[in-house]
Amino acid sequence: EKVVLAYSGGLDTSVILKWLVEKGFEVIAYVADVGQQDDFDYIRQKALATGASKVYVEDLKEEFVRDYIFVALMGNAMYEGRYLLGTALARPLIAKKQVEIAHKEGAKYVAHGATGKGNDQVRFELTYAALDPTLKVISPWKDPEFLSKFKGRTDLLKYAKEKGIPVKATIEKPYSEDENLMHISHEAGKLEDPAYVPDESIFTRTISPKDAPDEETLLQIHFKDGIPIKVVNLKDGTEKTTPLELFMYLNEIGAKNGVGRVDMVENRFIGIKSRGVYETPGATILWIAHRDLEGIAMDKEVMHLRDMLAPKFAELIYNGFWFSPEMDFLLAAFKKAQEKIDGWVIVKVYKGNVWPVARYSPTSLYDQNLSSMDVEGGFDSTDSKGFINIHAIRLKAHNVVLGSKDPF
Ligand code: ARG
Ligand code: SIN
Repeated sequence: EKVVLAYSGGLDTSVILKWLVEKGFEVIAYVADVGQQDDFDYIRQKALATGASKVYVEDLKEEFVRDYIFVALMGNAMYEGRYLLGTALARPLIAKKQVEIAHKEGAKYVAHGATGKGNDQVRFELTYAALDPTLKVISPWKDPEFLSKFKGRTDLLKYAKEKGIPVKATIEKPYSEDENLMHISHEAGKLEDPAYVPDESIFTRTISPKDAPDEETLLQIHFKDGIPIKVVNLKDGTEKTTPLELFMYLNEIGAKNGVGRVDMVENRFIGIKSRGVYETPGATILWIAHRDLEGIAMDKEVMHLRDMLAPKFAELIYNGFWFSPEMDFLLAAFKKAQEKIDGWVIVKVYKGNVWPVARYSPTSLYDQNLSSMDVEGGFDSTDSKGFINIHAIRLKAHNVVLGSKDPF
């Protein structure tokens, strides 16, 4: 039987690959390039040397930016007020391609190496279920037979040694990390103590804000229908227009200015609390710029309704429901709300901070005359009298019946 394994080249998935081979499976290793810093030729060789019958290395970067990162940012997705969902967004894309390969190969099984305590298992498996309910899932970290053989890292290392699976000579980072174009996440190890202050060496994508340039960077970011279409560095004139280049450029600017570090305790879908440290430079800049443009271009009531739904959108992404009817429903509404979110925002980037300083929209709803403190601008101020009186009716009645008292 054929199985398509989501393979990273790391210790866990290498052991899983071999274990599947020894169980009699024909293993097709699938390596998703979502922008992690890896040597894909080496990983390909390693998969073959470990017993894979075939290896797919797929470059998903462009699709990841265009159809996942930009879509999430269009909806201002942010989990529990902090996390921009870098890992949560990549999983459904990786799983979708895995399903496609299973179809191409006529495989009836798919496998992944996510643990039984985390979010990633849910994201992988819900995507498989949504896209092909007939596929059978092998999740070794939930498999009693696998678990009885491998209690932890020591067992994995021992097995790897026995089977001649190369283990990177470099001392492995004492953290669990997940890296892609959008972010790098650090979890576990010393970070499991939420009171532990991580030292600078944990950060691999962003430089410390205190070492960032003493000069601010001015970026002009253009949007069409809530999607970024151009970035201009106003200092040196650099311009980027394709999704991938634009996003990589913002990552670069964000990284060297120490933007996008988050250290938080979050609630996993299964209910466990988990401490995570994230570095999300480019997406942080985009999130802030996009939100600012909405200020000038989005209708008030549409914005307030959307704002009620945005945490739900983030939760669906976090929990692995990218492919779901409720997501389709939300996205249809969010896309409608973004139809005229056009124009540009200028942000200043400086020592870990990003703040908008100017914005323009050809579809602006802002009326300078109406907003002005200096001119009447067609607004009849005496109308406000009735507006307030009517809102006051209820409060007056409340006072008459219950009296007034200082609530504090
Ligand atoms: N806590 C984050 C999330 O659930 C990051 C998960 C990182 N995954 C990993 N396999 N290291 O999205
Ligand atoms: C894992 O459990 O494989 C990583 C952490 C997570 O998925 O939340």
